[in-house]
This record gives sequence, C-alpha cells and structure tokens, in this order.
Amino acid sequence: MANQAKLNAAGKDFDFPVLQGSVGPEVIDIRKLYAQTGKFTFDPGFTSTASCESALTYIDGDEGVLLHRGYPIGQLAEHSSFMEVSYLLLNGELPSKDELDTFSYTISRHTMLHEQLATFYRGFRRDAHPMAIMCGVVGALSAFYHDSTDIADPEHRKISSHRLIAKMPTIAAMAYKYAVGQPFLYPDNNLSYTGNFLRMTFGVPAEEYEVIPAVEKAMDRIFILHADHEQNASTSTVRLAGSSGANPFACIAAGIACLWGPAHGGANEAALNMLKEIGTPDRIPHYIERAKDKNDPFRLMGFGHRVYKNYDPRATVMQSTVREVFEALKVTDPLFETALRLEEIALNDPYFVEKKLFPNVDFYSGIILSAIGFPTTMFTVLFALARTVGWVAQWNEMISDPGQKIGRPRQLYTGPTQRDYVPLDKR
Ligand code: CMC
Repeated sequence: MANQAKLNAAGKDFDFPVLQGSVGPEVIDIRKLYAQTGKFTFDPGFTSTASCESALTYIDGDEGVLLHRGYPIGQLAEHSSFMEVSYLLLNGELPSKDELDTFSYTISRHTMLHEQLATFYRGFRRDAHPMAIMCGVVGALSAFYHDSTDIADPEHRKISSHRLIAKMPTIAAMAYKYAVGQPFLYPDNNLSYTGNFLRMTFGVPAEEYEVIPAVEKAMDRIFILHADHEQNASTSTVRLAGSSGANPFACIAAGIACLWGPAHGGANEAALNMLKEIGTPDRIPHYIERAKDKNDPFRLMGFGHRVYKNYDPRATVMQSTVREVFEALKVTDPLFETALRLEEIALNDPYFVEKKLFPNVDFYSGIILSAIGFPTTMFTVLFALARTVGWVAQWNEMISDPGQKIGRPRQLYTGPTQRDYVPLDKR
C-alpha cells in the first residue's frame, strides 16, 4: 500500500503510515507501534528519530543546506539582520518595514534587568564561568517576571519570549563585566540590538563608546548564524523541559545548560583552545594523528557534525567574516593561518574524507570573537544569546501544537530482574 511502511514482528505484519514533510526524507509514523506490537524502537542519540513536527528550520546535511522558514542561511547572513531573522523565526514571514520597526522597538523596551538581579550576580565568585552565571540568572528570571509565566496564555508567551530575547545581551554583558571587575552598564536603546550589546560589554562609564559598524555587522551576522538549528541537543532539551509545562525562563535555562557541553555550543571555546595548543602549522600533523587514534580521546574541535556530512554552510560565512573583521580592526591572528592549514590537511586526509567530517560553525567563530575582544569563556555565552530566539520560537511552536504531549522516551532495560530485599545484617 502507498504511504505505508510494513514491519514484520514475531511473524506478523504491521502497517505504519509514512509522512512526507514539505521537503526532506519521508518519516515513518510509529506512534502506535507499542500499542499494536508491544515493542519499542531503540535509538539512543535519536540518530533516526524525528521528535516533533516543525516549520522553522530545515537542514539537508548531505547537501550542506540550512533554511530558516525556507530562506537560505547564506542569503539571510548577507542581506538580513538579527532582529529581522528573529521576527522571521518567531512569526514565519519576513516583516514589513513597519513590522520590523515595531518589533525592534518592542525588544528594545525589554532590555533592562530588574535591578535586584545585580545583587544576584554578586553572589557568584569573580572567576565563575559566565555560562554558569547565565544558567543561574536566566533560571532566576522566573522569580522576577511572574506576570509572563502562564504558558497557556499566548500573550504571556509573547511577552516572555520578547523578554528573553531582549534581556540576553544584558545578562551576557553583565556576566563579562562581573568577571573583569568593571561596573555594569545599563542598555542604551538608541543603539541597535547588537550595537547595544557591544557597548554594554566593552564600554565603560567614563568614556563614550563608539560602535565600529564593521564589527557590529560581523557580530550581528554571527548572531544570525547561531539563531536556530532545528532539533539539536539544546533545542530538544528546551522542548523536553517545556513539554512538562515548565515556565519559559526555566526551559531556556535548561537549554543553556545543555549548550555548554564541548560536543555542542562549548565547541567554539574548545576549538580556539585547540588552535592555541596546536600553535603553528608544523604541529598540525601530530594533532591530526591524535584525532585519528581510536585510543586517544582528542578530537578536532569545530570539525564534524551529526547532521552535516558536507561543509557546514555557516562555516563558509564565518570564514569570510574572519577576513572582514581583520580588515576592519586592522589586525591579524596567526591562528587563522593555522586553522586554514588544518582545514586543508584534514579535508585531504582519507580519515576525515571517509567519515565526511567538515568544519562546522565553531571552527572559525572563535578567531573572530577573539579579534573583537571576547575571552574564550564568553564564546558559548554568545552562542546562547543568539540561540535564545530559536529556543523561544521552537518552544512557542511546541506549546501552540494541540497534539503536544509530555516528552517521555522509553528504554531498553538491562538491570537486574526483580529480587527480594536483603536486610543489612544478611549482606
Ligand atoms: N575529530 C575526529 N574524529 C571525529 C570527529 C572529530 N571532530 N567527529 C567525529 N569523529 C569520528 C568519530 O570518532 C567516529 O568515528 P568511528 O565511526 O570510527 O567511531 C565518527 O567520526 C562519527 O562520530 P560520532 O561521534 O559517532 O558522530 P556524532 O554525530 O555522534 O557526533 C559531533 C557529532 C559534532 C558531536 C562530533 O563530530 C564531534 O565531537 N565534533 C567535535 C565537537 C564539535 O565541533 N561540536 C560542534 C558541533 S556544531 C555546533 C553545535 O551544533 O553545537
């Protein structure tokens, strides 16, 4: 039968519907599998499992394609702005000029943090990792903004979404200021979303901060490149947390915690640290051998991806942005040469070719961020700042779905079978 997949289990045939999205591979709908067969599927790491329906982002990993609401990432990175991409992700269509102005204005009206939150920062050690601060502060927002946590109310969801997008730059900049011992700067809503963030991070009260347009543009583009990436680990975490009805601030804090890992958002920090450790191009072969050695846990950070089996289209834009930032700031970084050479050697090595391991978004981003002046510990914070719009849009999409259920995976149990309790004196 067309649009049916047949499964033969224990000598019996079962039919399951085959669904077709607007683009991409067909999906076998196994929701009734357990009810019909008494069996589960086993798919640790979700390598073959679609966890939800979504209309936000599409990736074709074999072709290196990334679309947001149908628009290719390269076009958005070149022609759009982070505010416009945020509107697109949240609302499904590109905004008119009026819609964009209204949206940008609304976001700018939510940039301040409750003053009491400054006290909250002071509870952290000065050498705390800014991602640790971010997890804590974002989670704590639900204790400050009680008037936008009713997830059944679309207006509450909208306000909390705007608050999260607007406050992330302030929270991130304050995490940086706290670490370097400088006073927090209040937002300046006359600046763009990204210009305001740069000023809050690098400005000081004693001087006028001048936003360098080329740096503002590069930073804005980096935010666009990180805005959403369909059902990655942190987004799935946000959806899973949200599926229980948890408030949006708590859900985004869960996403931040997941993003921190070096296999995910933490890779940008790890990639630059790796390039620093390699240092000069002559040392690359040694690290390539280590990455290929099964007995060595070392991996090329910023290389490989669960979905992309081709060049990550975000890495292409990142690589050209490195050059733009160097030119604007009149700087260079020998690590860029090391990175280019490492890429060239890896892409010609049979190990990386056969496993289809290509540079991902994190490979070049650290070089740009470092040139702009961010310490490595801030890299993942910037990823979290930008990804917040994707998390919030995905969370909204899930909550608005009438078929939404609590996420509750099953397991293949391998522990002991039932046995009787043995009293302490008999063990
Ligand atoms: N260096 C060396 N070998 C690698 C690498 C790497 N960076 N990535 C994958 N491999 C090998 C791996 O050892 C395995 O080999 P084998 O089949 O012989 O066991 C094979 O390639 C497949 O790897 P996997 O770990 O099974 O693949 P995965 O889809 O589970 O992992 C990944 C994807 C991104 C976690 C992994 O490629 C990795 O650890 N990369 C380095 C970390 C990184 O750059 N992460 C950022 C991802 S992009 C930003 C984001 O989404 O957050």
